[in-house]
Amino acid sequence: MKIKFEVKKIKDIKADAVSSFVFEDQVDQKLHWLNTLFKGGLDVLIESKDFKGTANEVFITYVNGESKTKRLMTAGLGNSKEITLEKLRNAYAAAAKKFNSLKLTSVGFELPDLTAVKGIVNYSIADIVQAICEGVFLSQYSFKRYIEKNEFVPLDEIVFFTDSPKYTKEISDTLKNVKIISDAVFVARDLGNEPSNMLTPNKFAEHVKKLSMKANYTVSIFDEKKIKQLNMGGIIGVSQGSDNPPRFLILQYFGSSKSEKPVVLVGKGVTFDSGGISIKPSVGMENMKMDMCGAAAVVGAFEAISRLHLKLNVIGLIPAVENMPSGTAIKPGDVLKSYSGTTMEVANTDAEGRVILADALDYAANYKPKAVFDIATLTGAAVITFGNLIAGIMGTDDNMKKKLFDAGEKTNERVWELPLYADYEKLMKSEVADIRNIGPAGRGAGTILGGIFLKKFASDKYPWVHIDIAGTAMVPAEPAEYISKDATGFGVRLFVETLKNL
Ligand code: BES
Ligand code: ZN
Ligand code: ZN
Repeated sequence: MKIKFEVKKIKDIKADAVSSFVFEDQVDQKLHWLNTLFKGGLDVLIESKDFKGTANEVFITYVNGESKTKRLMTAGLGNSKEITLEKLRNAYAAAAKKFNSLKLTSVGFELPDLTAVKGIVNYSIADIVQAICEGVFLSQYSFKRYIEKNEFVPLDEIVFFTDSPKYTKEISDTLKNVKIISDAVFVARDLGNEPSNMLTPNKFAEHVKKLSMKANYTVSIFDEKKIKQLNMGGIIGVSQGSDNPPRFLILQYFGSSKSEKPVVLVGKGVTFDSGGISIKPSVGMENMKMDMCGAAAVVGAFEAISRLHLKLNVIGLIPAVENMPSGTAIKPGDVLKSYSGTTMEVANTDAEGRVILADALDYAANYKPKAVFDIATLTGAAVITFGNLIAGIMGTDDNMKKKLFDAGEKTNERVWELPLYADYEKLMKSEVADIRNIGPAGRGAGTILGGIFLKKFASDKYPWVHIDIAGTAMVPAEPAEYISKDATGFGVRLFVETLKNL
């Protein structure tokens, strides 16, 4: 994909189609201005009043361009007084997808009056341009690698343009950064969508290793033998029912002096979650190939932050396992011992994510981290609570929670806090081990209890926040114009923005 930025008038842009973005309350002025530029080409459109400028509205007309007749898209932004970064993402994504549907691959996107937008959204020019480009780039995703003929033809040559020479530097710099971030989101989406036979824990590890060699971070892979030696009993226990052995990945990125304490990102990497002996119902089980979306978000974050050269140190920890039922699988009631020696009663083998994260959270303490974020498709209850739009967060550090929240508002990868009151702890008491992996049947609070379990391992060893992305990382339908169904890559942009501000 070729991407350019040009300071030019819309009529001088050379592309198969160009788009002009119009606020609903400024339709008349804007169309007349375009009409003058295109020497009366919009007479019929203006007369018909068919284009209103409402949010995500797109309309194609034909005008006389520089060398040949070309397509002009008018695209609606809604009311100018209500514009937000998210509305920009959606409007630009809707325009991009309209071009896709017409199989046009060389296209131009007009940038709106950035100063006017800035007057409303309270974010910088770079943030506004970022949202616009994210809308375009992120809308271009499709996972069709196992289909012979892909109907979807992504944009190939994109030019963003404005006729104002203001902000040229901000715009060009932002373009490069957004391409990096969007590619990283695609890496996470691809990992999530990849079928589990193609992405076992070992293949996952090898793939991430390959990715790292093209970027600026390193990956160490612990195999089953090493994991056993380290006494990571949660990972060994969960994976022992599968013929595909577990892996433990350590990603390292140094963007600051080695002596500076790192931030640790922990991602749940269950490459398939059948539930194990506590087996899941068949309907929808195929979606559990995406139960490694937490791990995918961590990998995506490393892809982005290492290419953006963020000035901090980051460690990624990924326990990768397959959760299967078999003669060798763990059974309900079994007791496992985590890396730090805490015993866990596995009353339900389907609550496996927290059991493998226990080892990783224990292990994170070795880095004396300045903060630890874990991200996981942890509980079905998070889908009940938040649907597919918001991730649940819980944790021990108000400052980190606030940073995540603000990053969520900006990126629209939104998070909302649930409480970890100590009263919930007794629900996770076990009679045979230090903690039980589920609460009492039928008493609710599933997402919070997941957080309570993890807190036992994060304890007060470091500032910690848990992110439950069960609802947002894997979705049955498009939650926005620029987010495809299935694996969304949720967490990548949230992490990049959070880490940028640490
Ligand atoms: N991977 C699932 C959670 C999940 C469910 C993610 C639906 C995305 C969509 C997790 O391992 C799981 O099965 N959790 C159980 C926990 C329960 C047994 C306490 C759940 O949520 O039902
Ligand atoms: Zn499960
Ligand atoms: Zn799971």
